[in-house]
Amino acid sequence: MQNHRWLRLAPDAPRRISFGADYNPEQWPREVWDEDVRLMQQAGVDVVSVGIFSWAALQPAADTWEFGWLDEVIDVLHAGGIGVDLATATASPPPWLTAAHPEVLPIAADGHVLWPGGRQHWRATSPIFRRYALDLVERLAQRYGDHPAIVAWHVNNELGCHNAWDYSDDAARAFRAWLITRYGTIQRVNEAWATTFWSQRYGTFDEILPPRTSAAIPNPTQQLDFLRFSSDALKEHLIAEREVLNRLTPDIPVTTNFMLMDGKHHADYADWAQEIDFVSNDHYRMPGERSFDELTFSAALTSGVARGRPWFLMEHSTSAVNWQPVNRPKRPGELVRDSMAHVARGADAVCFFQWRQSKGGAEKYHSAMVPHVGPDSAVYRDVVRLGGLLRDLDEVAGTDRESAPVAVVFDWDSWWGSELGSHPTDRLRYRQLALDWWVALADAGIRADIVPADADFTEYRMLIAPTLYVVSEALRERLDAFVHAGGHLVSTFFSGIVDEDDAVWLGGYPGALRETLGIRVAEFRPLFDGEEVMVDGGVGSMWSEPVDIVADDVEVILSYTDGDLEGRPAVTRRVRGRGSAAYVSSRLSRDALSSLVADLAHRAGIVSELPTTLRGKVDVAARSAGARSYLFVTNRTDESLVLDGIDGDVVLGTRHLEPRGVAVLRR
Ligand code: GLA
Repeated sequence: MQNHRWLRLAPDAPRRISFGADYNPEQWPREVWDEDVRLMQQAGVDVVSVGIFSWAALQPAADTWEFGWLDEVIDVLHAGGIGVDLATATASPPPWLTAAHPEVLPIAADGHVLWPGGRQHWRATSPIFRRYALDLVERLAQRYGDHPAIVAWHVNNELGCHNAWDYSDDAARAFRAWLITRYGTIQRVNEAWATTFWSQRYGTFDEILPPRTSAAIPNPTQQLDFLRFSSDALKEHLIAEREVLNRLTPDIPVTTNFMLMDGKHHADYADWAQEIDFVSNDHYRMPGERSFDELTFSAALTSGVARGRPWFLMEHSTSAVNWQPVNRPKRPGELVRDSMAHVARGADAVCFFQWRQSKGGAEKYHSAMVPHVGPDSAVYRDVVRLGGLLRDLDEVAGTDRESAPVAVVFDWDSWWGSELGSHPTDRLRYRQLALDWWVALADAGIRADIVPADADFTEYRMLIAPTLYVVSEALRERLDAFVHAGGHLVSTFFSGIVDEDDAVWLGGYPGALRETLGIRVAEFRPLFDGEEVMVDGGVGSMWSEPVDIVADDVEVILSYTDGDLEGRPAVTRRVRGRGSAAYVSSRLSRDALSSLVADLAHRAGIVSELPTTLRGKVDVAARSAGARSYLFVTNRTDESLVLDGIDGDVVLGTRHLEPRGVAVLRR
C-alpha cells in the first residue's frame, strides 16, 4: 500500500527537510509549553510528535475522557507554526485497563507474565486490547482529523519493541490461524516442520502451540514460523489502526516508527513498509569503532525498506541515551553529522527523542533537544545550528535515493533462520556480517545501497548477499538470472543452505547456490572464539570450510595458507553467462575484506568515484530527482580533509571537511 504520501502540509508550504522531536508537554506545567514553542521556533522546528504515551492522560478511566489539554497543546503548536504528527497513543495502556483485563498482558516463553509498570505491556493478538485501542484511535481521528495542524498520524510507537513475542493462548490461537493460512492442511505443516523428527507429528492444528520453553531444542521451522507470525501479528495491529484512520481521515498520511538499528530483529520492515504512507525510523548509535558505519548502514537499510523514497527520521538522540550499560554523550560535531548522515540516505525529516529532557520517569537521563541544564547549553546550541543547516538543504527535500553501483542484500528470513539454535555455531550474527561488508565497501570508497531480497536486482551491477541462509527456488532463480544477465554476485558462507521451510538443499552446500557458484562444500568448519585461519593477505575468523571446485570456469581468488585447509580455496569467482558469481568461505578481517571488495568490484567494472586520497576516509551517498543530483560527503575520521577531485557545487559546508564534518555537493 505504500503510495508514498508525505506530510499533509499547507497547500502553499514549500517542501523542506522537516525538523523536530517527540514532544510530551503533558509532563510539564502549562507555562512551559509557551517556552517550548519559543525555543522550537528559535531552532527552526516545524514538526513535533505529540501524545505517544498519553493514553492514561486522555482516558483516566474506562468511561472518562480528557481531551482538553491535548486540544490546547495542538492549538498552541499550530499558532506557533509547528505541525503535529499526532500519535494514536495506544503504545502504553493505562493501569485501569490492565487491572480490569490482565488477559491483555504478554506472556513470555516460559509462561511468566510481563506485568504493567513499564510500557508496551499488551498482546498484539488480544481482541480485548484491540477493542480498547481502536476505540481510542477512533475518538482521536474524529476529534482532530480536521485540525489544520495535523500533518500525519503516528501509529502506536515502535511496535514490538518490548512485546514482539507473546506466547499466550491468544497468540496460540492466532498462530494456528496463521498456519492454516500459510499451509492449508496439517499434513503440509508436518512436512514443512519435519515433524517425523522427535515424534512431533501433529494430528490437528489445535495441538500446535507457540514454541514455548521446552525440554529440548524446539522445532526450528516452528521457531522460524513463529518469528514470521509474530512480525505479521504486529503488522496486523498496525493495519487495524491505519484502517480506522484512513476511514475517518483519508487525507492524512499514516506512518509508524520502525527500529532499523542494531539489536532489533523482530519485524520484517521491508514487508511492513507496504502498509504505511511513508517510512519512519528510529535509530540510536551503539558504542564501538563501527558506530558511525552502523548508523549509515541503518540509514541505507531504511532507504532500502522505503524503496528509495524519502523517509522520516522519527527519533534519534542529541547526545547520550540512557539504556546502554555506559551512556556516553556525543562528541562535538556528532549531533549534526549523525543527522546529516540520515538525510544523505533519504531522511526528509530529522527528529529527536525528545524535545525537553524529562524531570522524572525511566528516561530522565536520556538526552534531548532542551537538556536539564536548559537552552544555555552546547546541545541546544547544536540543535539551533542543525536547524539552520537543514534550511540550507530545502532543495534536497523530496529527492530519491540515487542508485549506487553495488547493493547489499538484507533479508529478514535469513536473519531469523541463520541465528536459530543447534546450528554449526552459535557465534553467527547476521546483521554484524552484513555490516562487515558495508564497512569494507566504505573503506574501499565504493558507494552502495542496501536492498531487501525482493528488490529489483537489475538496478545494480553487483549484489553482495552475506549469509543468505534461506533461499527459495524463486530466489535461487532470480539470483542465477541476475548473474547470467551480466550481474556480479558475491555470496558468502552459510548461504543457500535451506529453503523457506528451513529444509536443507541436499547434495552439498551452498545448496541453492551451488550451480551458480560452481563449488561444493561437504562440511562446515566453524572456528572457536579466538581461533583464526590465515588467508592470502588476511585473516579469517568464526567460520571456515573446505571448498571444492566442481566447475571448469571457477577461479581461486584467495586460498587458505595455514592449518588443515592450507592450499584449499577460501574465495572463488566463477564467470557465468555475462556476469560472475564469487564465494567467500570465511569471515575475513576488515582490511582483507576491503581489498577483496575493491578487487571484485574492479573485476565487475566498478571503481570508486572518490580520489584515492579520500577512499576510506569519507562516507558518500547520493540523492537525485531528474537532473538534480546531490552528493553527501561525510568525514568518517578525526582528521581534517580536503574534498579535491570531487565535482560539484557546494550546497552545504565547504570542501575543507573538519573531523566529523559534512559537505553536500550539487552535481
Ligand atoms: C525509542 C522510543 C522512545 C524512547 C527512546 C529512548 O525511540 O520510541 O520512546 O524510549 O527510544 O532512546
